[in-house]
Amino acid sequence: MIIAVDGPAASGKGTLAAGLAAHYGLAHLDTGLLYRAVGLAVRGHLDAPDFEVRAIEAARALDAAHLTNLRELTGAEAGMLASRVAVIGEVRAAMRQYQRDFAHRPGGAVLDGRDIGTVVCPDADVKLFIAADSKARMERRARQLEARGEVVDRYALYHQIEERDARDMANPHGGFYQAADAVLLDTTQLGIEAALQAAVAIVDKVMAGK
Ligand code: DC
Repeated sequence: MIIAVDGPAASGKGTLAAGLAAHYGLAHLDTGLLYRAVGLAVRGHLDAPDFEVRAIEAARALDAAHLTNLRELTGAEAGMLASRVAVIGEVRAAMRQYQRDFAHRPGGAVLDGRDIGTVVCPDADVKLFIAADSKARMERRARQLEARGEVVDRYALYHQIEERDARDMANPHGGFYQAADAVLLDTTQLGIEAALQAAVAIVDKVMAGK
């Protein structure tokens, strides 16, 4: 079984994808980490004329099996850098096969990102599109950052999230939209447990209909 979980920044899709993977005994890939790793690899070259070429090279050279510096990868700077390299078509193409191979492993997998249901795995068995309003997403991200000791400027964070949404959605190579056969799950009013229960109910229902 392949489950695709797409949605905007801080929508809770990563937590849900991990929960679904644990529930069904599937492998899990957070595809945002791939873009974040490429972003970090070209940090310091954002304004260089060869920024795109460097990003494409970094994407081709990425050893996706060894993404170890999780603290740095999940930080705000990496997120911003990721959304800058994610608009480069060749960067996306370079990482597509790795994601597809991961999805098609024998035991099945859950992948979360922006374009899993639309581009990476249009053949996924179940597609979830996670939504939550920007204020709720800001508050969740703020609590995550505070839990690891960071000082948070909520006003700035809100604008960062809006800015990233705008860039991700305008990305001509992004494939970031709800697939026609994806089920929408709005988590604005749901805690983690309730959201996971709702996601499991959707997966069970879709699979029962197959
Ligand atoms: O989900 P995230 O915050 O880790 O994603 C970081 C950035 O990477 C996001 O701004 C858009 C990009 N991304 C993408 O374009 N496609 C994906 N499948 C995953 C992430």
